[in-house]
Formats: sequence, C-alpha cells, structure tokens
Amino acid sequence: MHEGNLRFCWAMAVKQVRQWRSMCKGLILGTVLTSCMILLYCLSTPQIHFSMPEVPVPYSCAHRPSQLHPKLTTNTSQKKPGQTCAPKVDIMFMKTHKTASSTFLNILFRFGEKHRLKFAFPDSRNDFFYPSLFQRSQVKDYRSGMCFNIICNHMRFNAPEVAKLLPMDTSYITILREPAELFESSFHYFGRLVPFTWKIPGDDKLTEFLLDPHRYFDPEGFNSFYLKNLLFFDFGQDNTLELDDPRVAEGIKFITDRFQLIMLVEYFEESLILLKDALCWDMDDLLFFKLNVRKGSTVSKLTPELRARALEWNAVDWKLYQHFNQTFWKKVHAYGLQRMAEDVAELRRRNKEMASICIEGGHAVEAGSIQETDMQPWQPIGEKSIMGYNLKKNVDKAHRKLCRKMLMPEIQYLTELGVNLWITKLWGHVREIINW
Ligand SMILES: *[C@@H]1O[C@H](CO)[C@@H](O)[C@H](O)[C@H]1NC(C)=O
Ligand SMILES: *[C@@H]1O[C@H](CO)[C@@H](O)[C@H](O)[C@H]1NC(C)=O
Repeated sequence: MHEGNLRFCWAMAVKQVRQWRSMCKGLILGTVLTSCMILLYCLSTPQIHFSMPEVPVPYSCAHRPSQLHPKLTTNTSQKKPGQTCAPKVDIMFMKTHKTASSTFLNILFRFGEKHRLKFAFPDSRNDFFYPSLFQRSQVKDYRSGMCFNIICNHMRFNAPEVAKLLPMDTSYITILREPAELFESSFHYFGRLVPFTWKIPGDDKLTEFLLDPHRYFDPEGFNSFYLKNLLFFDFGQDNTLELDDPRVAEGIKFITDRFQLIMLVEYFEESLILLKDALCWDMDDLLFFKLNVRKGSTVSKLTPELRARALEWNAVDWKLYQHFNQTFWKKVHAYGLQRMAEDVAELRRRNKEMASICIEGGHAVEAGSIQETDMQPWQPIGEKSIMGYNLKKNVDKAHRKLCRKMLMPEIQYLTELGVNLWITKLWGHVREIINW
C-alpha cells in the first residue's frame, strides 16, 4: 500500500519534472527565437520608428545665449579683436576617411562637452553603417523633432536625411586631403579589407596597383570604393564617374552650396583658424594633439611618378580637391595673410605648451610603449602602425582633465560620452584573439 503510494508519487513527480523541463525548453526556445526575430526585424527594417508622426526640425538647437554666456554683447555682425559673439553650436561635420578627422573629432567632443551639447551618435558601432547612405533612424535614440547639436561620426553623406535630423541653422563643415596622399593612406589602412588587392603580386602592392590599376580594380568588388575617389564617395556621390561626366561638376557644386567651410589637412591650423572665425569659437577650443599618427617607417613617400599616377587614378577627387583648395585660399586672403600667420603661430605655441604639460616625453610613441589601455588607438588590420601617447604622471590638477581628453583615442572617448560600441568592441576582441 505504502509502496504503491510512493511509486505513484514518484511517477507523478517524474512526470511533473518532465513537464517542467519541456516547458522550460519551450520557453527558452521561444525566447531565443523571438529575440532572433526581433533582431532580424530590427536589422531588416531600420525605418521602424517612422510610424510616428513627423515633427519638423527646429530652427536652432542652441541654448539661449543668455543662459550660456551672460557676459556676451549682441554685436555678432562686426567681429573685431576683443569683441565677442555667440559661438555656433549646431554643427554637421562630414567626417571623411584618412583626413586627420579623428584629431578634429577630439576637438568637437571637447567643445560639445564644454557647452553641454547633444550629439547625434550612432548605435552599437562608431559609424552610421558606412558605406550605406546615412539614415536618421541610425541615430541612437532618435525620435522625430528631437534637438541634436552635433553629428560627426563617419557616414556616407545623404543631405536630405541629415537636413531632417539637424536644426536649420546648422553649420556644415568638412575636411579634404590631397588625393594622392589620401589614396596611399587608404591603401595602407584598408587595402587588406578590399579582396581584389589580395591577388596583386609582390611586396609593394601599392606601386604594382598604380602601374596598371585597371587590371586589378573591380568596381563591383567588395569595399572597392576605399581605393578610388574615396572623398567623392563619402559625400554620397558616385566614385566611378569619368572626369568629364557632368555629374562630377554637379557633385562639386552641391558640396560647395551645402558646406560652409571646407578645411584642408595640409593646412590644418589655418583651417582651424578659419573655423574659429566662421563659428565664433575661442582659441582655447582649437587646441589639439595629432591623433592616429602613423609610425614613420610605414609612411611611404610617393615618388613624383607614383603621385601623378595616384592623382590620375583618383581624378575626380583631385578635381574636388583643387576646387576647394582655391576657395580655401580665397578665404585665407579675405581673413588677412598677416593675421592668419599670427594666429597660426599663436595656436602652434599653445599646442606646444600643452604638449609639454600633458605628454610623457613630449611626443607620440609606438603602440607597444603605450602604458594605459585607455590610450591605445585602434589599429589597421594586420599591423600596429598607429602611434599613441602616454599621459604624464604628475600633471597639475588644473590641466589633468583636459590633458586626458586631448590624448584620448576616438573609441575610448565615444565610450566615455555614452556610446555603446559593442559591435566595434567585439570585432576588436576577435582581432585580438586571432592576432590580426
Ligand atoms: C555694437 O557695435 C556698434 C558699431 O560697432 C556700436 O556702435 C555699438 O555700441 C555696439 N553695441 C554694443 C552693445 O556693444
Ligand atoms: C593650392 O592653392 C595654393 C594657392 O593658390 C597653391 O599654391 C597650391 O599649389 C595649391 N595646391 C594644390 C595641391 O593644388
């Protein structure tokens, strides 16, 4: 009798455990499948937010000047030395590739923090799903009608979408670099990510490629845009156009009309002074250290012949660059050559002073000699050619924070500003593990 009861209970218990188990399994499977479905749905329909009503963008997202700068006069039209004006805080920085733009980003991050501005950041990685065209929905926590001050991460420019995101008074700025140098840098940094380069023979793939680019280049090939007219591509244009195609001139005109200031890497300090003038910033806002500098041994010196070939290969970018080189120097002349020379000298002096305050040894060092992981820059695939800095040990209290921020590589700074970069970081860990 007892035994029977016991057996019955046992059987019931086993049955219940089984039921529980299958329920748990079902639950887990269900959860996993639902998560996968949600993930797939999110990935496949980035326009998920757009069922909400559209709210037009505001005219300005600047704080009231009275709250921010109680001391300011209202004389913004006539800027003379000693007079003040309200700094422009609504900024679109079109971050082009391999153009010292990480250095400039660091300037923007600090400016944004100083004025408590709202950045339109990407989500989960450090670009807006480059190379696909920019969409507002890629912005972290985006909702229609929201006020963002600054957007500055890598994107493929898409004017209508950017215009629907940012206030109307936004200043559009960007930076260009001489295309032969840019091409060389891009080849070094991204070459391994472009499959058609794998079949280029020899150690000096760049030279081999430039001797007969049409033999290797595949316009349809994965990532091929990195190696032809990359600037034009970044602006959302077609990088494979022939030079005499009317769309080239149209593209350049479009950029001219849209962007208020086009800086040049070759004249970085002069560019910053023009920026200060155009946006009414302070000299303090322009202080910088060169970030993402390449180790000397990996910087190839292009021969005049290779340079000519690189320019011919990137003819559209060359035309773009020459056009904006002209407008740049017109601006410098309008600013005043003498005044520009003085301001540049002042900026260089201030930067040098900061370097002696902040940087151990006063200069950049190779990745292996960087002590803090927080100061390690992101490296190109397959090598450690990007240099970084060591923060001095006993920087005085007044400068400690500023020094740290000025030296901080982009990924770390983005993390500090609250961007979750799990895709970028996962990719970094995978590379670390397979030692790539
Ligand atoms: C603004 O500038 C004008 C001309 O330079 C001057 O007459 C006027 O007093 C200035 N106003 C203020 C508030 O400084
Ligand atoms: C840019 O313009 C300046 C001034 O006109 C000129 O001296 C320089 O050679 C130009 N640079 C290029 C790369 O065209």
